[in-house]
Amino acid sequence: MMLRELLRAVRRTMQLSPMQRVMRRLKRLGVRLDELDALEMFGGTGTFHTIDYAARVRSLDAWELDPKRAAEFRRTVPDAKITITDTYLAAKNASMRYGLIVADNPMSWHGSHVEHFDLLEEILRIARPDAVVILNVIPEITAAALRRFPYLSNERQREARGSFYRTATPDSIGRKQILDAYAARAAAAGRSIAWSFFVRRHFVFYLVLGLRMAAPASQERTANTIG
Ligand SMILES: C[S@@+](CC[C@H](N)C(=O)[O-])C[C@H]1O[C@@H](n2cnc3c(N)ncnc32)[C@H](O)[C@@H]1O
Repeated sequence: MMLRELLRAVRRTMQLSPMQRVMRRLKRLGVRLDELDALEMFGGTGTFHTIDYAARVRSLDAWELDPKRAAEFRRTVPDAKITITDTYLAAKNASMRYGLIVADNPMSWHGSHVEHFDLLEEILRIARPDAVVILNVIPEITAAALRRFPYLSNERQREARGSFYRTATPDSIGRKQILDAYAARAAAAGRSIAWSFFVRRHFVFYLVLGLRMAAPASQERTANTIG
């Protein structure tokens, strides 16, 4: 076992993996995981984090492009239903609505896509009215991250990050600016973000969003004027 994998296993045994921390925060917020139908949009082998929440949710679907990884995912999380598919196509065609959606996308560009930027609209469409969405966000492309993953500095990703987060400093983005970008897209889809929090993985963070349907404009006006 590689050192990194060993450390990950120890952390998991101590209930300290980043996804285990996310699950604890959700529980404290009163989210009933056992009532949620979940979707892992990029299944991989299931060992990065799916294994940390699979047994807690009511049902779990997963999508994965690579058949070999999908086969391993089946061994890791035998009760889940994994489909070998392109997530971007599957999301467009999905009729199921999910209460928990996790987008553990590759960190950089993959095919014609960058991070999860062109998936967000579909995520908002297939989320139930009350839903939890967990996204990978990169506030800062650190020097250490660049040493390990030099491709993170590619122009295509920098441009996509600049345009998605509306920033001239795509290598370093504040949490508020990140949240504002998701809130604006949620609002455009008739949603609001009731609560949110970040949990550190490494230079990638989980951004966890509690989605609601946005109140109709008339109700919003009333709510804003009370008190
Ligand atoms: C970060 S890994 C996912 C790890 C996984 N969540 C876990 O818990 O082990 C990203 C995965 O996305 C898959 N992938 C990349 N592009 C894809 C696409 N267009 N559709 C489906 N899966 C894709 C890769 O094969 C890789 O297994």
